[in-house]
Amino acid sequence: METKMNIDWANLGFGYLKTDYRFVSNYKDGRWDDGELTTDATITLNESAGVLQYAQTCFEGLKAYRTADGHVVCFRPDLNAKRMADSCRRLEMPVYPEEKFVEAIEKVVKANLDYVPPYGTGATLYLRPYMFGSNNVIGVKPAEEYQFRIFATPVGPYFKGGAKPITVRISDFDRAAPHGTGHIKAGLNYAMSLHAIVDAHKQGFNENIYLDPATRTKIEETGGANIIFVTKDNKVITPKSNTILPSITRRSLMYVAEHYLGLQAEEREVRLDEVKDFKECALCGTAAVLSPVGKIVDHGKEILLPSGMNEMGEITRKLYDTLTGIQMGRIEAPDGWIKVIS
Ligand code: PLP
Ligand code: COI
Repeated sequence: METKMNIDWANLGFGYLKTDYRFVSNYKDGRWDDGELTTDATITLNESAGVLQYAQTCFEGLKAYRTADGHVVCFRPDLNAKRMADSCRRLEMPVYPEEKFVEAIEKVVKANLDYVPPYGTGATLYLRPYMFGSNNVIGVKPAEEYQFRIFATPVGPYFKGGAKPITVRISDFDRAAPHGTGHIKAGLNYAMSLHAIVDAHKQGFNENIYLDPATRTKIEETGGANIIFVTKDNKVITPKSNTILPSITRRSLMYVAEHYLGLQAEEREVRLDEVKDFKECALCGTAAVLSPVGKIVDHGKEILLPSGMNEMGEITRKLYDTLTGIQMGRIEAPDGWIKVIS
């Protein structure tokens, strides 16, 4: 099915475009209401709302795709529901029930079907579930009332140029603390990364690679994506750490590497000093999909990945084609990965 919206799908960047409907549910007196779709994109809050004073908020990100045979699908929304529940527990927020999360995703996509980009344009409908403390607090404590919302916005590639390799630097800042909140999708983690990303862009880098905050010797992740490396003997490696976000894309890619491509895939600690020995590197996430890295700069020392600055590496390309093939219905998905919406 083609969409009737007059949008230049192929040239969309990763930005916000208002769509028709969003889902809203309120938590009060210890329970969630039924929730509803609304056309109102604005939120009115008390000046002392928990989210405004103490950043009590977390979010998720997932996408809806138009498939080769004309369906609209979502990729593993149950895992976003589960991860959001983990984020809520860590932030002393009430969990939004996981099945109701998936139902709400379905409602938002169905209500905004015309905004799901046509198959083949490279664009997708990005879904942003989020929750925040909405009543007034002034002593440092959790809010008692919360709002859970999901909006949708059509997006193109997160990094301009899409499949073109990017340059990243090793950051001097940390995005998470040992035993902190690096493993959940708290808004505060992203606030922590804003100064570092603005500075990285000023210096001509696309992103920051953060090191483990305890020893600063191991690779963690970037501000908005996990990382994969490919060794010279074609093993796919991803950093193991309890201070990074457990990326759903990364978990899916590791499965694809092993079960679709017959490669060895390993989650293990990755030392900064072994990065120079890898053949390929890429950032992975819902927004980033699989963005190839051509160069890593460690305080003036340039590490050029052998795959170069023009093309995705060979294994990265295979992983990318297989994952996006599964998401867009060209390749059969493992059981439970694809939720058909329409
Ligand atoms: N790491 C960070 C810090 C992120 O913001 C994201 C994006 O969600 C990811 C990793 C990738 O996670 P996922 O693949 O579940 O989107
Ligand atoms: C996502 O990939 O969904 C994220 O939340 C990352 C962010 C950079 C947009």
